[in-house]
Amino acid sequence: MPIIYDSNNQSFNLMTKNSSYIICILENKLLLHAHYGKKIYDLSNVIDTVYEAGGAFNPVDSDIERKAFSSDAAMLEYSFFGTTDLRTCGFNGVFENGTNYVRPYYKSHRIFDGKPKLPGLPATYTEDDSEAQTLEITLKDDVLNVEFLIRYTVFENVDAITRNIEIKNLANEGFDIKSALSMTVDFSDKDFDFVHMFGGWARERQIQKIPLINGGQYVDSKRGSSSHHHSPFMALARKNANETCGEVFGFSLVYSGNFFAGVEVNSGNISRAMMGINPYNFNWRLEGGETFVTPEVVMVYSDKGFGEMSRTYHTIYRTRLVRGKYRDSHRPILINNWEGTYFDFDEEKIVNIAKKAKETGVELMVLDDGWFGHRDDDKSSLGDWYEYEKKLPNGIKGLAEKIDALGMKFGLWYEPEMISPDSELYRKHPDWCISVEGRLQNYGRNQLILDLSRKDVCDYIKGFLTDMLSKAKISYIKWDMNRNFSEVGSALLPKDKMQELPHRYMLNLYDILEYITTAFPDVLFEGCSGGGGRFDAGMLYYFPQYWCSDDSDAIERLYLQYGTSMVMPATTIGAHVSACPNHQVERTTPLSTRGYVAMCGSFGYELNPLAISQEVLDEMKEQITLFKEIRDVIHYGDMYRLSSPFEGENTCFSYVTKDKSKAVSVYVTIMGRPWPGSHRLKFDGLDENAVYIDKDTKKEYSGSLLMNIGLPVCDCKDFESRLFIFEKK
Ligand code: GLA
Repeated sequence: MPIIYDSNNQSFNLMTKNSSYIICILENKLLLHAHYGKKIYDLSNVIDTVYEAGGAFNPVDSDIERKAFSSDAAMLEYSFFGTTDLRTCGFNGVFENGTNYVRPYYKSHRIFDGKPKLPGLPATYTEDDSEAQTLEITLKDDVLNVEFLIRYTVFENVDAITRNIEIKNLANEGFDIKSALSMTVDFSDKDFDFVHMFGGWARERQIQKIPLINGGQYVDSKRGSSSHHHSPFMALARKNANETCGEVFGFSLVYSGNFFAGVEVNSGNISRAMMGINPYNFNWRLEGGETFVTPEVVMVYSDKGFGEMSRTYHTIYRTRLVRGKYRDSHRPILINNWEGTYFDFDEEKIVNIAKKAKETGVELMVLDDGWFGHRDDDKSSLGDWYEYEKKLPNGIKGLAEKIDALGMKFGLWYEPEMISPDSELYRKHPDWCISVEGRLQNYGRNQLILDLSRKDVCDYIKGFLTDMLSKAKISYIKWDMNRNFSEVGSALLPKDKMQELPHRYMLNLYDILEYITTAFPDVLFEGCSGGGGRFDAGMLYYFPQYWCSDDSDAIERLYLQYGTSMVMPATTIGAHVSACPNHQVERTTPLSTRGYVAMCGSFGYELNPLAISQEVLDEMKEQITLFKEIRDVIHYGDMYRLSSPFEGENTCFSYVTKDKSKAVSVYVTIMGRPWPGSHRLKFDGLDENAVYIDKDTKKEYSGSLLMNIGLPVCDCKDFESRLFIFEKK
């Protein structure tokens, strides 16, 4: 059984294949945290490991017999601000009497098979109750009449534990939630590196690693979306941890809005990992009888380094977060006209692009920005989702029919959450955008954000999408979002609920996405936010793939896709071959390298096939044939990062089928050196007792040779690449 309640020791042991997570109930009914890490089987006297006497200036908990116990100095299972824990806590509220005082005690628990849905929020799921077990612990403050439900689901075989909390106000009067983090986990020491990903537009998810210090360290977003700047992910890694060994604890939040992910180390060196909705610009008025549900955190423990942590995330997110038709089936190979034409296109040009692309084997033609209102640049028309007649005389319906007649699928770009000041929609509904009445409005990419806390706005979005998807043959939607929040205000929300806008926005966005993806289950949705600005686990529940970055340069993509692969599986990473010189960094790279790097994701093209030579078109054709041959290994196999662009002058992404019968490795040199000598690339994840045939040279090598001696590679030329395909004999 993955979850054991040991009544003698008043403890819970949550066990995955390789880890234990242990909670104790202290005699005064406070919950303590004993352990997260390697598996423990016997919990006898585990309480002795967590009992903590405080020192001077740690307030003493007076509801416990033992002398000098202080919550402030202890490892707590979940932390509540207002009494004796003076650190940053998971929960902080302001109650009827104007104070923060809350002290919930253990009341009951429930263990059951399966995993309940989180109302209105994206979350991992089970298909069968036998796949996971759930523990719900109820704590209650009897004086306030408020309950806190702490929920854990153990995916035993996947090696992951999810958790979230729910706050139920059973009283008549309301209170303000100032902070409701989804999780706090206390570790008994601080010998960790804090690993997170930061970035910006066109350089998302760059990896950063810093040693923990006493005090606080965090990443967050206050931008209304998880954003380009930080990712709702962090890991605590032991100092010796690398790709293949050492302990790593991963925390990934299934949420797309403002978030907080951080660690506070107290002076006794207890490290508190925390994650959830960002308390900074948050307040939630919880009226009597209401419940507040926090998003879930997916926790992964690995004692085999970052590689194993990522493989676990890939498995759970690919199979139990992503949903729908495309979860397990091949995505069509697409061409997107954005970098090929930008706003300069008409129906004829798009049909000609599709025709040419079709000759190479491309399966889906995606029409990007500029097809609606009177949009010739990024200064107008968002919100006016009717066709721009000058460019599309036969409308989207007519164009989609022409593409269909070519034997291709058709896809369309939308930016449904936005409104241009120069639009019919804005002229009709100036109060539909997020803004503060009577104050200066500021723009991002010349646009404003629709106020999704309003029902009429959400109905409008559902309406235009439903109309278009019902009338035209559309197989794919690219859902973009091109600015962050500023001047957060709504014309409709009362002032005591104004601070709720960002979370209400997110809940209603999830509702729209649920509605539209359910109504059109055959449509493939690809998320986008100026590239990968909102590429988070929350979005994957609705979008099986996400445009990784607006930087399509193959070398920049090594960094981007390396960082992204910390958590995201290859199927979800939108990656395209674009033209050279590259439009973002003006670099020229071999087409083969651009192809191999894009094949490490959800593969496609983003160029104008009418503007390239027959030679290039022929190579595209070969790439598509090759991709079809290897995509199952890349998409459904296990990923091994053999070398990192953040650490050297080359990168190698390697993928091995679950049965270890086939492997594909993409090796890219970043900067070449004259006569650098060759070094050996050691493969990983193979069957050491098997013999593999190198598909290219037809030579045979044992798995143990490939993994322990390796094959020579040379970083002689900038941006050169090699593809290895091994098949078990
Ligand atoms: C964003 C997207 C791009 C493209 C443009 C269109 O920047 O990330 O891929 O769709 O918008 O305006």
